[in-house]
Amino acid sequence: MTAAVLTRHLSKTYGEGETAVQALKDVSIEIPRGEFVVLLGASGSGKTTFLNLVGALESPTSGSVEADGQNLEGLDDDEKTTYRLNSVGFIFQLYNLVPTLTALENVQLIAELTGSDAKERSQNVLDEVGLTDRRDYFPGQLSGGQQQRVSIARGLVKNPPLLLADEPTGALDVETGVQILSLLRDTVKGGERSVLTVTHNTDIARIAHRVLELRDGEIVNVRTNHDPAAPATVTW
Ligand SMILES: Nc1ncnc2c1ncn2[C@@H]1O[C@H](COP(=O)(O)OP(=O)(O)O)[C@@H](O)[C@H]1O
Ligand SMILES: [Mg+2]
Repeated sequence: MTAAVLTRHLSKTYGEGETAVQALKDVSIEIPRGEFVVLLGASGSGKTTFLNLVGALESPTSGSVEADGQNLEGLDDDEKTTYRLNSVGFIFQLYNLVPTLTALENVQLIAELTGSDAKERSQNVLDEVGLTDRRDYFPGQLSGGQQQRVSIARGLVKNPPLLLADEPTGALDVETGVQILSLLRDTVKGGERSVLTVTHNTDIARIAHRVLELRDGEIVNVRTNHDPAAPATVTW
């Protein structure tokens, strides 16, 4: 079985000359399918850069990313757009919802790009994230946790093999954050989807199947939790 994500000697440098910043250095890792993986590291350690390279939002300076069976460096612009649309669901710290659209419409917007029965599929994923009775609310009428659920529904409606979440709990209180992580971890349950979640919080890593630790752009530790902790036991 092929990996969900495979990187080889992945490096990214921003800028040139004396002001150059090496955000990622020679990162070679493998993320199997069906895992909830946490990317851990202090601010500035390269977490977002890594996620953006895997999501084809940026291109590496050197090295390669293989995801969903494709070598991203070999794709032209149109193919990269298709990859971002069909293969990856993105979840951000600040939700990135359209404020003038309801929860359902926010999800439907993406659903319509990725197949038929957009409304029905959107309603189904909103049910899945526990927002059945909030479908017709606007983002401004929802709590932070509910807005993040809409954002997760928007990622899920494409049914992508890979979900990438950049500090999805960063703006939430502890209890809500745990619920969101629990939800994200549940989305791998079929074993076909992998979820890569960025955090700078050590305790969150206990609920992951696998933890990748970044320091100054380098992977300094990879560990596997054979018996991941239940999200409810997390305190931070
Ligand atoms: N667009 C950019 N231009 C210049 N430097 C950048 C850019 N994006 C990130 N960096 C730098 O790369 C390093 C890693 O950043 P980032 O991946 O955002 O870290 P993290 O998400 O772990 O906080 C930091 O030193 C940051 O300042
Ligand atoms: Mg970041």
